[in-house]
Amino acid sequence: MLTLTEVAQDPLVLTRRLRLRDGSEVVVRPLGRGDAEQLARFLAGLSPESRRLSTFDGYGLDTARELCDAIARYDKLRLVVEEAASGRTVGLLEFSLDLHPSDIARYRRAGVPLVEGADCRFGPTLADDYQGRGVGTLLFPLVTEVARRFGRKRVILLGGVLTDNPRALRFYEKNGFVAVGTFTGTDGTSSLDMILDLGPEPGGA
Ligand SMILES: CC(C)(COP(=O)(O)OP(=O)(O)OC[C@H]1O[C@@H](n2cnc3c(N)ncnc32)[C@H](O)[C@@H]1OP(=O)(O)O)[C@@H](O)C(=O)NCCC(=O)NCCS
Repeated sequence: MLTLTEVAQDPLVLTRRLRLRDGSEVVVRPLGRGDAEQLARFLAGLSPESRRLSTFDGYGLDTARELCDAIARYDKLRLVVEEAASGRTVGLLEFSLDLHPSDIARYRRAGVPLVEGADCRFGPTLADDYQGRGVGTLLFPLVTEVARRFGRKRVILLGGVLTDNPRALRFYEKNGFVAVGTFTGTDGTSSLDMILDLGPEPGGA
């Protein structure tokens, strides 16, 4: 089973090159300590609507530095998506290997008890010009591979998905997530919890 320290020491274990439908290529790789400036450019470039739909603490260099400083220190794994040709960061895939007490309580109330060590959390954000082009779905096999390689059996959404985010709802649904229940955030917004059961190992018994 993979650990965050191993990924930080050898990022190539989770580095992939993928061809998009238009023939261009992206590289997906673990966020590195030297990535703060290009990550800040990605965050700063997100539109107000993408910021509303995503869950970052901020959208500038300070947040980018915090994310880079967190590498292999906490429970988070972050993969950046880069245009192969330009090196521009066009996406960030976030995994959290630990569960948050509020998630555990919410899922328990909904009748779906979470299991520490078997469940993980996931949240994707693509640059505005990369949304709605099938890129998230193309990346999705890597998402399930990452969860499996960390020994996880199920994936839940980091912070749920806003119920007025139809594209994300459709994206999760078509990639196998099922609805668990809705909840109201501290800011009054309505969100949906969703869970993906990874099922048996591909090629396994
Ligand atoms: C959510 C996100 C990662 C999905 O990745 P993506 O590459 O855009 O998704 P895909 O193109 O693979 O799939 C989107 C699906 O939603 C559909 N869709 C797009 N807009 C839609 C809308 N307004 N209503 C319903 N469905 C919609 C697309 O047609 C596609 O479904 P289809 O293949 O059946 O036609 C990406 O859009 C994103 O980063 N959004 C902004 C941040 C965000 O919302 N993050 C998630 C927070 S929970």
